[in-house]
Amino acid sequence: MNPLLRPRRLRRSEPIRSLVRETTLAASDLILPLFVCPGENVKKEVSSMPGVFNLSVDRLLFETEACLNAGLGGVILFGIPEEKDAEGSGAWATNGIVQRATRALKSRFPELLILTDVCLCEYTDHGHCGLVQNNEVLNDPTLELLARVAVSHAEAGADIVAPSDMMDGRVGAIRAALDENNFSQTPILSYAVKYASAFYGPFRDAAGSTPQFGDRRGYQMDPANRREALREISLDLNEGADMLLVKPGLPYLDILREVRNACDVPLGAYCVSGEYAMLVAAAQNGWLDERRAVLEALTCLRRAGADFILTYHARAAAHWLSE
Ligand code: PBG
Repeated sequence: MNPLLRPRRLRRSEPIRSLVRETTLAASDLILPLFVCPGENVKKEVSSMPGVFNLSVDRLLFETEACLNAGLGGVILFGIPEEKDAEGSGAWATNGIVQRATRALKSRFPELLILTDVCLCEYTDHGHCGLVQNNEVLNDPTLELLARVAVSHAEAGADIVAPSDMMDGRVGAIRAALDENNFSQTPILSYAVKYASAFYGPFRDAAGSTPQFGDRRGYQMDPANRREALREISLDLNEGADMLLVKPGLPYLDILREVRNACDVPLGAYCVSGEYAMLVAAAQNGWLDERRAVLEALTCLRRAGADFILTYHARAAAHWLSE
């Protein structure tokens, strides 16, 4: 037995492996989600996400400086407001938590790329991503509110707005409102393909945004569906989305590849809170090598087609990549 072809020849040493490696992973591909909360000097760990914190604006500045030094691609801000109401008015308040944080970050670190999550669920007392009437999440009346949120973020200095609500027509509504308010240069990163996933559980602990009744299956996508992802991206691209996001990440690599093959705009993957929690919990039990598992997972998201990745491991990964 003498094999003619020996793929192992190209695996023999790190220099050879490095030469033939098909996928790269760099700190600048990674975007760190940050949870900003009211108060001063607050750094409160999220119970289901060890190493992830709710941060007051002053502490956020401190953490963000470390992100810049690590060479991350940017940060995406989520807000935990002082008060919630039925409409989620804290989401578009000029002095809302994300708006204040964005202004503070922009003036301190002008070179930092700031994305903001555009949604209502962290700000509504019922925890849904839109206006609610008779236990139904209303689509069209929600669009105007989302547009206000996006404009308020752009006014505060956000570089990119990222709607994650899954209302139909929201990209078009946000594009029109941005353009009318002199923000025609602000790009929209659409969470175009967002599934109704159990893997968002820890995020809802972090943001206090668990729906008070029902669930999000009436607006987020059914995990069983693949063709529908292509339909969602073509709608969002027609409405003016500049970049797209697939979410969650690891259980949806097939979707990521499918979307990558179907369009030519920049594409991101969101490795969500539950994915982070799984990896960290296993590592804490000594069941996984966190460093190797995380770098592998992120590389696989890139291989599947992600140009950039939103991940709670961004800073740790940047550190590991620089070693
Ligand atoms: C807001 C939003 C959610 C996430 C990102 N934006 C929560 C949700 O849809 O329930 C989840 C992110 C994560 O789990 O890390 N709509």
